[in-house]
Formats: sequence, structure tokens, C-alpha cells
Amino acid sequence: PFRSYEFIETSQPRPGVGQVTLNRPKALNALCSPLIAELNQALADFDASPDVRAILLTGSQKAFAAGADIKEMAPLTFSEAYTTSFIESWSSLTTNVKKPIIAAVSGHALGGGCELALMCDVLYCTETANFGQPEIKLGTIPGAGGSQRLTRAIGKARAMELILTGKNFTGREAFEWGVAARTFATWDELLEGSLKTAETIASYSKVAVMAAKEVVNKSQDLPLRDGVEYERRVFHSLFGSNDQKVGMKAFAEKKKAEWTDN
Ligand code: HXC
Repeated sequence: PFRSYEFIETSQPRPGVGQVTLNRPKALNALCSPLIAELNQALADFDASPDVRAILLTGSQKAFAAGADIKEMAPLTFSEAYTTSFIESWSSLTTNVKKPIIAAVSGHALGGGCELALMCDVLYCTETANFGQPEIKLGTIPGAGGSQRLTRAIGKARAMELILTGKNFTGREAFEWGVAARTFATWDELLEGSLKTAETIASYSKVAVMAAKEVVNKSQDLPLRDGVEYERRVFHSLFGSNDQKVGMKAFAEKKKAEWTDN
């Protein structure tokens, strides 16, 4: 049922959970354009699949992703980058995918790799994961949202220091600063913990889960008052879903909810 890809692998490791594994080991999962195109395709397939309710995005133990592909970018001119909207397709992850994506980060998550992780809805990592925005060392700056998402996540003081110095930060720091929701001691524990969370999410009503993701993400774009109003509208709209009736009725009857996904 899965397409075959060159730079990623897809699987369904648990019921309701779709997994994308970045798989370009020779380049530490450097995110070349064809890899991003494959990632977008895989995520679009999972988003459309009735069998998938939560998505796990991971790399290898050694590298989540060591950045955009430096060798691909090196010769790009301004006009090429501008006219082809270079990197814009990376945004599909945040604008098109409605189901929650959990990033499981081990090893390097640098530059575009760090930005990719920051685009996901839940970020888990190992304590020793190696995050950073080292673009300054290459004579450039973050280009896939790093200066915006990292700054919102950890505040201006830390983000400015990291982005101006290109200094890396650890998984432990990512957790302490609120970038990562949890850290794990080992790669195996990271994968298992991520799958467990994905399974938990997958056990809930798909309509409610997608609405929850949508409203939390709105908080990153809207002023508080507008965000609260937006949330209330979506909350109201869920009274039109069958699963709200199913969930509340099951509670009253002390039974397990059998979601209908509508
Ligand atoms: C292309 C890369 C790469 C990258 C690693 N490789 N990162 N190729 N783009 N971002 C390749 C190396 O060239 C090498 O290929 C192979 O992967 C193994 O890497 P090594 O450097 O030999 O491994 P190691 O010594 O373990 O060092 C790991 C590393 C280092 C510290 C992660 O590879 C590194 O610094 N990579 C670049 C990290 C970076 O600057 N990322 C930001 C990119 S800019 P060969 O063929 O030599 O074996 C960016 C911009 C984002 O992401 C803006 C828009 C998205």
C-alpha cells in the first residue's frame, strides 16, 4: 500500500499511526529538494488516508536531519531562488497537513533539520540530540522559519544568541527551554515513547484531534483575543459532530467511546 521512495521510508507501525523515516544516511538526512518533495507526498497521503490518525516523523539515531542540502544550495543565484520560490514547499508541512505530526529527534537536527522539527506539532528528542541554527557559519541565515519559530519557542534573548553565534544546543536544553515536550535517554525509548503518544492521539476522535491541532496552531498567529474567539467558534462547531455526542454519552454511561469520526 506504500509508495516506494528514494530518500524516505513510510510505514504504519501501529494502528492509526503513519510513520515517515528520513532515509538519506550518506548525507545525514540532508534535506535536498527531492527529499522534501517525497516528504510532502508521504504526508499528503497520510493526511488523506482514513487509516491514519497521527503521524510520526523521524530520522536515524545519528541524524534527524543535518540541514538543507548545502551542496544543492551552494550554486543557487538570487533569481533562481526567488523565481522558483526555493524552500516554500517546506511550508506544506505546516499549512496542508491537518493531522498531528510528532517529531522524534535523535542526533543532528541542524539548520533546516532544526526548522523541520520545529514545524512539527509535538517534538520529542533524546537528551543528547544536537540542535542548532548554524547558517551564520555558512554566510547565510535560517530560511525555513527558524528565526521565527525558535524565537517564539525560547524567547528572543536565547534565539538571538544561538542564531548569531551558530552555537548548538542539546536535547536536554531543548526540553528545559520548552522546545521539546519530552526527552528520552535512548533512541529505542524515544521511538517507543513517540509511538505511544501517537497511538494515544490516534485513539481519539479524528475530528476533535484535527480541531485541537488547528486551534493550538492559531495561537501562534493570532492575538490572544482573536485566538480565544477562534477557539470558541471551533468549539461551538464541534457540537455539530457526532463524536461530541458519542464522547459525552460514553462518559455518562461509564463506557468506552466508540468514535465514528464524524
Ligand atoms: C549536504 C551534508 C550536510 C548538509 C552533512 N552532509 N550535512 N551534505 N548538506 N547539510 C554530508 C557531508 O558532506 C558528508 O558527505 C556526510 O554528510 C557526512 O557528514 P560528515 O560531515 O562527514 O559527518 P560528521 O563529521 O559526523 O559531522 C556531522 C555534522 C556535519 C556536524 C552534522 O556534517 C555538519 O556540520 N553538517 C552541516 C550542518 C549545517 O551546517 N546545517 C545547516 C545547513 S544550512 P561526504 O560526501 O563528504 O561523505 C540550512 C539552511 C536552512 O539548513 C535554510 C532553509 C531550509
